[in-house]
Amino acid sequence: MRSNLIAGLDIGTTKTCAVIGELVGESRRRPELKILGVGQARTSGIRREVVTHIEETTESIRKAIEEAELMAGVSVDRVYAGIGGEHIQAQSSMGVVAVGDDEITRKDLDRVHEVARAVALPPDRELLHAIPQEYVVDHQSGIKDPIGMSGTRLETEVYLVTGASPSANNLRKAVSRAGYRIQALVLGTLASARAVLTEDEKEVGVAMVEIGAATTQIAVYFEGKIRHVGVLPVGGDRLTNDLVKGLSIPFGEAQRAKEQYGVAIAQLVDPQETVELPGPSPGQKRHVARELIAHVVEQRLDEIFGLVRDELEERELLSQLGAGVVLTGGTAALHGVVEMGQQVFAAPVRAGVPGEGLTGLADSVRRPRFSTVTGLALFGADRFHETGEGASTLSSGIVSKVGAWIREFF
Ligand SMILES: Nc1ncnc2c1ncn2[C@@H]1O[C@H](COP(=O)(O)OP(=O)(O)OP(=O)(O)O)[C@@H](O)[C@H]1O
Ligand SMILES: [Mg+2]
Repeated sequence: MRSNLIAGLDIGTTKTCAVIGELVGESRRRPELKILGVGQARTSGIRREVVTHIEETTESIRKAIEEAELMAGVSVDRVYAGIGGEHIQAQSSMGVVAVGDDEITRKDLDRVHEVARAVALPPDRELLHAIPQEYVVDHQSGIKDPIGMSGTRLETEVYLVTGASPSANNLRKAVSRAGYRIQALVLGTLASARAVLTEDEKEVGVAMVEIGAATTQIAVYFEGKIRHVGVLPVGGDRLTNDLVKGLSIPFGEAQRAKEQYGVAIAQLVDPQETVELPGPSPGQKRHVARELIAHVVEQRLDEIFGLVRDELEERELLSQLGAGVVLTGGTAALHGVVEMGQQVFAAPVRAGVPGEGLTGLADSVRRPRFSTVTGLALFGADRFHETGEGASTLSSGIVSKVGAWIREFF
């Protein structure tokens, strides 16, 4: 019986997806996750990453996890669920303690974390993450792991991420009504960064830009620390809406046209090439220059990239990106998106897809739209690797479901 199953659940604007993995290769520094199953359902009841209709969201969650369970041939009882949206806030916080004995122990570390975490939050906000950034021992800074060092004074800088409690509670409600438990709520942006960025990039300086359907999430790292998380309320849906107007076609058709024929830089398209799109009345067809679609896509994407660049510039982060920009999220599948990123950011740009640290059915998550959900499972794997906790237990989940099946059968 497996007891090291980890599940991630990402409720995006367009799709809700679940990934189930099994933790293997525990002796390594970073755990290896064997992907067993992936499930997807169309999301209902969500607007800009926030639950607006619980019943509908519950149904999407149930479908996605059940599909992943079916593919994996196992059941899970808990998930690492992604949270995001404009209600997320982040700040740095410092903590100082006197070292108990001469040598720094786990206990001193726990104490200094506790002090750094102790900021007063308004009653409608909750702490999602407290990420230790670095330690200072007797004024010597830049220390990653102070345990065992000698010193009298231990200081830490912790990156605190908070979210609105009502949003978190609605997510908990939807997941619990679907029959699962939330092991932890994880900022989706951090999960994606876990899935697509390397430790080297985080050291040298990198911005992850995840362009989804309704949002663009940004995470910036340098010197191995998280420096900024942000979200812009624009994404691939804007491109689709422009095509709806520009080509006078319904949203669904425009989405298909974008995904099938869209190109981020019109220059990359042969001006003679035409594509077939549905005509104004049912059964009719018409030919449209692919360049026209590309022009519409290019204009809007250029604007979105411009907003990202402005945000990075405003926070004086653009000059810190030695390793450049990593693009991910569904919209990063667009042909020519990397080239456009290079033009706008004047920095190295690559597309980021999950893959590192994954085995099993890793191919089924090797797409930019699966960064968040895969990162959530990897986050859970890291947690389990460190603490031995957070995996699905087989007691409640599988037994109750098998029980139900047996009752149905006999
Ligand atoms: N091949 C493609 N070319 C262009 N756009 C694509 C492609 N594949 C998917 N997209 C777009 O990516 C978007 C969906 O991305 P993703 O699945 O990351 O979003 P989401 O997680 O549902 O939304 P959000 O993160 O904003 O809540 C949609 O706008 C979709 O049209
Ligand atoms: Mg998303």
